[in-house]
Amino acid sequence: MSSTMLPPGAKAVIFDAYGTLFDVHSAVARHSAAIGPDAGRFSEIWRAKQLEYSWVLSLAGRYEPFWSLTEQALDHAFARCPQADLALRPLLLDAYRRLDAYPDARDALRALKARGLGTGILSNGDPGMLKAAVASAGLTGDLDAVLSVDDAGVFKTSPRTYALVLEALPVTADEVVFVSSNRWDIAGAAAFGFTCIWVNRLGLPDEYAALAPNAVIGSLGDLLR
Ligand code: LAC
Repeated sequence: MSSTMLPPGAKAVIFDAYGTLFDVHSAVARHSAAIGPDAGRFSEIWRAKQLEYSWVLSLAGRYEPFWSLTEQALDHAFARCPQADLALRPLLLDAYRRLDAYPDARDALRALKARGLGTGILSNGDPGMLKAAVASAGLTGDLDAVLSVDDAGVFKTSPRTYALVLEALPVTADEVVFVSSNRWDIAGAAAFGFTCIWVNRLGLPDEYAALAPNAVIGSLGDLLR
C-alpha cells in the first residue's frame, strides 16, 4: 500500500454515508428554484433537525428508523420556512433517497479496493434508505459491507454502532480507518478506538479537541495521497 494517509496496518476503510459519500444538500439543490431564496437555510434546518432527533432519541433510550427522522425533520423545515411549497415534500423525500454521491467517491472506493483494503459504510441510515442511495449512486459493487445502526437500535455516537464494524468484518479496531465529514462522528469513532480521518470539505474549525482525528483531508481523493 503506497498511501501515506493510511496506516500500514489498515485492513478496512469504513465511511460515513450522509455528508461523506452522499451530498445531503443535493436533494434541496435539485429543487432550490421552487423553494426560493431560503433554500440553503431550509436544507440546513432539515439536516440539523434530522441529526438532533437521532441524538435526543438515543440519549432517551428510544429508537426510530432514520428515514422516519428524515421525514419529521423535513416537516419541521417546512414549518420554519412557510414560503416553501408543501407540494415539494414527496419530491424532496424522493430526492433524498437518490442523493448525489460526491464526484470523488467512486474513484476513492475503487482505489482502496485495488490496494487490497476492505471498504464499507457505517451509517445512521436504515437499511432501505442506504440500499437505495448506494444503488442510485452506482456504488453497490465498490462496497464490501453496508452497515446500518438499525442493527444496534441506537444512533451514532453510541459505541454499539461502531462495534457493528467489528461484528461484520474480520478486523480489529486498530485495523479500521473510519472516514467521516461529520466532526461529531469522528469524535465518536475516535472514542471507540478507530483510526479516524476527517473530511473537512468546508474548512470548518476543529471541535472535540479531546477526540481528535488522526488526519484531516479536504476531499475523498486525498485519501490516496
Ligand atoms: C450517517 C449520517 C449521520 O450516514 O451522516 O451516519
